[in-house]
Amino acid sequence: VPKPPPQTARPAWSPVDRPRKRKAAAAAAPPVDVRPPSDRPLWLILSEPGLADLALRELKARKVVARKARATKLFLRNYDLLVLPDSQIQAKDIVSRLAFQILSAPVFGRGAFNEGQLLRLTAAWKRERADGLVSTIAGNHFQRQDLTRWLAKQLKARGVEADVDGKPERPAWLIAVDQAFYVAFPRFNHHDAPGRSRDEDRVGALPPTVGAAMVFAAKPETGEVIWDPVAGSGALLREAAEMAPGATLIGTDVDAQAIALAGRRLGAHAQLQVADATTVDLDRQDVTLTLANLPWGKRYEAAGGNAALYEALIRNILAHAAAGWRGVFITSDLDALRRATRAVGGLVLEGVAEVKVRGIDAGVWLLRRAG
Ligand SMILES: C[S@@+](CC[C@H](N)C(=O)[O-])C[C@H]1O[C@@H](n2cnc3c(N)ncnc32)[C@H](O)[C@@H]1O
Repeated sequence: VPKPPPQTARPAWSPVDRPRKRKAAAAAAPPVDVRPPSDRPLWLILSEPGLADLALRELKARKVVARKARATKLFLRNYDLLVLPDSQIQAKDIVSRLAFQILSAPVFGRGAFNEGQLLRLTAAWKRERADGLVSTIAGNHFQRQDLTRWLAKQLKARGVEADVDGKPERPAWLIAVDQAFYVAFPRFNHHDAPGRSRDEDRVGALPPTVGAAMVFAAKPETGEVIWDPVAGSGALLREAAEMAPGATLIGTDVDAQAIALAGRRLGAHAQLQVADATTVDLDRQDVTLTLANLPWGKRYEAAGGNAALYEALIRNILAHAAAGWRGVFITSDLDALRRATRAVGGLVLEGVAEVKVRGIDAGVWLLRRAG
């Protein structure tokens, strides 16, 4: 019988900078004790921090996950993790625009690996032709290096090689949260979603899955006229093109280089122009939805303060808006957005999600006219 992996009291890292309620939820023990009678895998759905609920809703809407399914939600430092039994996965072709990774975990347990789990892992390793292990360990039950080295040794003793230090081409994922562990194999990567590419992102661009969450939260209908006033390289409009097919897409930005990139990315899908969104006249009043990654953070902080910029933006957005208009905005500067909304008046601001974008806390907000 193999020795259990060594345990230390020191966490490899701790989820320090997460809001309190997230930490409390992370502390809840994940239900991995009971192996489903049919020996089926668990499914792991990873999303950017803060997007787990929206990602689950999207997967239900796509009928990938059963409508009534309830997932266990865990919070890692860089991801939210949903754990679902195989019985709740309905689709063979897994596609999502909000999930970062979707993995199938044939091996999972609690506390320490037993012989059965190691044999199962060896068989899965061969079947999947995995060549290495990437790992995320949360909590203080497992110590990352000790556990991965121990696992590699166990695999080697059973005839398979596992690279734990390099950048494997076909990695298996080891995820442990407190005592619970999962070894999983990739089934979907966010780069695989239609219209995505690995090389289009520019510095400051919104991660595509966050953009997708904003579009999803807007519940787009047919015939939308969508304006991104600060379109940058067009990350948000690209998601809108996929999730609201047939919509009219309009993008403006003061940065000519960014608009050129957006043009390459969106082709004939969008009407793009280099313009100041606070003053531009689009010669239309039929915009039904505004999507915007507002300028925020060190790189994009507005010279006269974000509140003044947001107010001017919202005024010009409303000057182009149809009845029933709504806007979905992301910013880390909630104070500026609140002040701008109040100054304009007659608007209601609702929270959609608290997310982390490259380590910075930001909020997705829905804005609409009151009444
Ligand atoms: C946070 S970034 C948005 C990045 C963008 N979503 C992307 O995917 O690349 C803010 C963008 O707002 C633009 N911007 C700032 N002030 C503007 C204004 N008054 N009118 C139009 N664009 C503006 C900047 O040029 C920048 O591209």
